[in-house]
Amino acid sequence: MSKYPEVLVAAALGLLAATSSAGAQDAAAGEKVFARCKACHAVGEGAANRVGPHLNGVVGRAAGAIEGYKYSPAMTEKAGEGLVWDEPSLTRYLENPRGFLKGTKMAFAGLKKPQEIADIIAYLATFAEDGSQKAAQADPAGDDGGRDAAGAAETDTAEAAGEAEEEPSQAGADAAPRADEPTASSVASGSDGLKFGLGREATDDEVAAWDIDIRPDGKGLPEGRGTVGEGMIVYDQQCASCHGDFGEAIGRWPVLAGGQGTLRDERPEKTIGSYWPYLSTVYDYVRRAMPFGDARSLSDDEVYALTAYLLYLNDIVGDEEFELSRENFTSIDLPNEQNFIDDDRASEAHYADRSEPCMSDCKEGAPEITMHAAVLDVTPEDSDEKESRGGGID
Ligand code: HEC
Ligand code: HEC
Repeated sequence: MSKYPEVLVAAALGLLAATSSAGAQDAAAGEKVFARCKACHAVGEGAANRVGPHLNGVVGRAAGAIEGYKYSPAMTEKAGEGLVWDEPSLTRYLENPRGFLKGTKMAFAGLKKPQEIADIIAYLATFAEDGSQKAAQADPAGDDGGRDAAGAAETDTAEAAGEAEEEPSQAGADAAPRADEPTASSVASGSDGLKFGLGREATDDEVAAWDIDIRPDGKGLPEGRGTVGEGMIVYDQQCASCHGDFGEAIGRWPVLAGGQGTLRDERPEKTIGSYWPYLSTVYDYVRRAMPFGDARSLSDDEVYALTAYLLYLNDIVGDEEFELSRENFTSIDLPNEQNFIDDDRASEAHYADRSEPCMSDCKEGAPEITMHAAVLDVTPEDSDEKESRGGGID
């Protein structure tokens, strides 16, 4: 947000430059257009790489040439083929970045007006490699012949403009680009033709890394095994500090064992042994979320061992030698499983005669107001606090 006023300042300075020197017109207009690049690119004295490389001296510069900037493989490849940024190549790139260079990570839709492209190239051409300003010139392809008195006079103004630009650029380095442009975080690869150019398809490896859920019937269980005794060792090292030596919990951390027979109490103690329906949830949960603060650090075997130990703490297995594995996993039932029942409400008498809910014109005649929420006392009084008044109904 804060960048708009500064853009205005820069634009105003650009206008100054335009009136101070004939022939700088294009560059001055280009400076305004550059506002659309600033979220990602810096130019001028001390310009650093941002989301994109700095653009000092870019006109005439070899593509992909800024050291320390990590270009896309596509750009690196083009650079290897000898692409140089001159007026024709820049024009094509800026008009349609991904059309010109498939796989470029410049997430920018392109400048649609040829005039804007010409202007911005003229503007970029005013910057030398070190970020100092060359004399502005209408013909960016021309050589550096414009260092005359008029040019020097203009340099001051232009440098001031450059500085005015630098400040927002630091503060706004990660500021969102214009709302109608793709954001810096969008990724270009493979998204040719997509309207927003956001994201990319997840790779098989990425999907596999997320796809770790385990079903009660054992689907999703990884290969592996672990004994109660092995689980006890891991538990003492990595779990007991919060969950207590025997799952009884320390302080207000969750209890992992006990509680059998308390479900009808006013304060039931819900544990794996007293409440949880499926062992698959224990494996899934520990593997996914524990130890708290260091999730996903346990090996599959360690999770089998810990699950076996949690069964032991809950008196569901009695033998320290017991080994839990993918093979015998589904043979274990948790005590409370039978108290979880399928949702069969739709077949209950109460619902039976309402097979299809009415979705339109359900009531005959005009709607009538039967009660006001304020009268019903569901809307809090707000006479003192007009400020916090929500959009409720009366
Ligand atoms: C959303 C961020 C973003 C915006 C907006 C953006 N660019 Fe880029 N630009 C990049 C990135 C990232 C690269 C590096 C591309 C690559 O490696 O494939 C890049 C590369 C470039 C290059 C090639 C530089 C080199 O060293 O080879 C030029 C030239 C360029 N941009 C000009 C512009 C201009 C001019 C604008 C405004 C009209 C603009 N860009 C808008 C992110 C952006
Ligand atoms: C730093 C403290 C801490 C450590 C260490 C820790 N946990 Fe936890 N554990 C928690 C917290 C907090 C929760 C509740 C998280 C929530 O509800 O989002 C929890 C929840 C659980 C639950 C679910 C309990 C329930 O009934 O809801 C299990 C099972 C569990 N942890 C097992 C383990 C195992 C096994 C280890 C060791 C590998 C471990 N935890 C290590 C803090 C810890």
